[in-house]
Amino acid sequence: MGKITIAIDGFSSTGKSTIAKQLADWLDYIYVDTGAMYRAVTLFAMRNNFISSEILDSQGLISSLENISITFKKNQKTGIAEVYLNGENVEKQIRTLEVSEFVSPVATISEVRKKLVHQQQVMGQGKGLVMDGRDIGTVVFPDAELKIFLDASAEKRAQRRYKELLERGDDILYKDVLENVIERDHIDSTREDSPLRKAEGAIEINNSEMNLEDQFHIILQLAKDRIAGR
Ligand code: DC
Repeated sequence: MGKITIAIDGFSSTGKSTIAKQLADWLDYIYVDTGAMYRAVTLFAMRNNFISSEILDSQGLISSLENISITFKKNQKTGIAEVYLNGENVEKQIRTLEVSEFVSPVATISEVRKKLVHQQQVMGQGKGLVMDGRDIGTVVFPDAELKIFLDASAEKRAQRRYKELLERGDDILYKDVLENVIERDHIDSTREDSPLRKAEGAIEINNSEMNLEDQFHIILQLAKDRIAGR
């Protein structure tokens, strides 16, 4: 059966990666979390002092981009692809609120986007992949056979994210998570280079009041239809 490319975009914490992972698993496709790539670059910037006292040294980071290598490797226990920064597994370190606070500004830098978009396009050359992010249907794979745009209210998204962080043992306040979600939405959708928007031909799903199972079945059916149509 012919393989397709599935692009899942949307605001932060809309559950893109959960759906994308399930879908990839079901279809036996590759899953790529592009947010993890921007987060890994942000972690690199923090560790190398390109971010300090709330200031981002964009030029410094740009001149160091060639020293950043981002790869994915499957965790043999969970079967989930995890992100590596220069050979080190940083899956946990990239999910902190601190990284979340700086990732959107880092993702406005065109040179960073160019590097990551190129790598993403190479990863998707063979099709058979589900990729989630902010610009997958608009920039990375504008010809993807299936494009989904996920949305939900900021409060619902912050509640989900807050629960996730608490379960991980993070010591955080709900109000800080909500603030971060709203701030990232704003930066991601107003930046000059590849702002977050619904791609042409994308199917919009607002999952504020939808459970994961129903949502998965809707998207899986759309994917099956597209695959059958090839
Ligand atoms: O999906 P996420 O929350 O892990 O993404 C983190 C940030 O990375 C998000 O706020 C914006 C940026 N991003 C992007 O600009 N383009 C992508 N394709 C994916 C993420």
